[in-house]
Amino acid sequence: MRHITVVAEHEYKVHIDEHFEGVLHSISQSHSKIFVVAPAFVAETFHLERVLHALENATLFIVPEGEHQKDIAVVEKIWQALGENGLTRSDAVVAIGGGATTDLGGFAAATWLRGISWYAIPTTLAAMVDASVGGKTGINSHAGKNLIGAFHSPTGVHIDLRFLATLSDRDFAAGLAEVIKVGFIRDASILDILQKQNTVSSARTVAEDLIFRSVAVKADVVSADFQESRLREILNYGHTFGHALEKISHYEMRHGEAVSIGLVFAAELSGKLLGLNMDDISLHRTLLQQFGLPTSTNVPFGPLLELMRSDKKARGSMLRFIGLNSVGNPHWLEDVSSEVLESTYERMGP
Ligand SMILES: NC(=O)c1ccc[n+]([C@@H]2O[C@H](COP(=O)([O-])OP(=O)(O)OC[C@H]3O[C@@H](n4cnc5c(N)ncnc54)[C@H](O)[C@@H]3O)[C@@H](O)[C@H]2O)c1
Repeated sequence: MRHITVVAEHEYKVHIDEHFEGVLHSISQSHSKIFVVAPAFVAETFHLERVLHALENATLFIVPEGEHQKDIAVVEKIWQALGENGLTRSDAVVAIGGGATTDLGGFAAATWLRGISWYAIPTTLAAMVDASVGGKTGINSHAGKNLIGAFHSPTGVHIDLRFLATLSDRDFAAGLAEVIKVGFIRDASILDILQKQNTVSSARTVAEDLIFRSVAVKADVVSADFQESRLREILNYGHTFGHALEKISHYEMRHGEAVSIGLVFAAELSGKLLGLNMDDISLHRTLLQQFGLPTSTNVPFGPLLELMRSDKKARGSMLRFIGLNSVGNPHWLEDVSSEVLESTYERMGP
């Protein structure tokens, strides 16, 4: 069992390779009540009702699957249940699920009584390496994805690697897109490890190492810039384009699939504006395709551009991107013109 420390508005640990049943038991002993949110699939597959029944002070609240749960109507139902169950400032929310569930559970905790404790027990690779760490919580709205939210760090993040066994190859690969992103912006050893694994099955065998390295980078960056005044923006490499695609697909694409295409866009943009070399640009495609991730799209450019303008990383009307000078050396691209973006998009091919 290993752990990594994050220093944000408070210090907390990301524990890797724990058993969630024991974790729930000890969390329940630290609070008079715990309120557990999980999607039905996770609750049923991992017998949460039975595990929580043994604890006596736990309530299980089932939320919709995927992005459907990141909705104000779901938050309202949670607030109502928190009230009915008398959750006080000394109690806690526990989010067990993918990144959508940790975003939602964290947001409910951030807003109840102006902020109560919460714990993340991520069950997808994307949530383990990214969503559950860093204290960004939130929901979607008609205005866009993740535009409503709060910085509210968990009290603890507990990763149980056994959850990965039931994760589909598609969802595992979607998580790998974020791992690959971390490799390009900060830790090239991740790229070396992944170049030796040419299928999702073989990447699964090195999951613990990949998770440890990815969380270490995220923890480091978040600890230096919790509220994203500058450095933390490097974690958005590939995301401005990715978020636009995700929205256009009505969230049918996995977050990681959209980020995968966004990474290729960011690499091509880096080639154009920063001179990122061809080998590094090709490495983006090779690695992503190795795990069956998409690297291009035929969505028309106009609507993508409009959505990129409304991304929360835009400042005023300026379109900003994170690019790469070289692997491990990110660069802030300010005020990129729409002509440059369109020609970059054309270079990506269909
Ligand atoms: N807060 C952050 O910093 C941050 C960072 C990255 C991503 N995110 C958010 O995370 C979300 C994406 O996360 P995700 O890809 O985990 O999506 P998700 O939470 O929608 O999970 C994907 C699917 O996997 C299922 N699932 C969960 N655990 C499983 C398991 N162990 N076995 C089988 N199936 C399982 C879920 O029920 C769901 O249907 C997006 O909403 C994104 O915005 C947040």
